[in-house]
Amino acid sequence: MLIVQVCVGSSCHLKGSAEIVELLQKAVEEHHIEDEVTLAGSFCIGKCNRVGVTIQVEDDVHVGITRDNFREFFNKNILNVIQAERK
Ligand code: FES
Repeated sequence: MLIVQVCVGSSCHLKGSAEIVELLQKAVEEHHIEDEVTLAGSFCIGKCNRVGVTIQVEDDVHVGITRDNFREFFNKNILNVIQAERK
């Protein structure tokens, strides 16, 4: 199970964390990986960025996630990781 925490602290909230949560939920459904990913919110992870939202995947913190780079982030850090775990 992959734990994905989207920061909903005030800085990330202003930069669109609600939208990123929505994109994440949709992408997870689309790929039918609901049983393999746990989505959660988190308070400020301490990595507020000038642009975008902070997302923590297990112990890795990714900053600057926006709707534009979301797919890239998702494929690389979530989908790939899950596919690798299956092998
Ligand atoms: S508010 Fe998200 S990292 Fe600080």
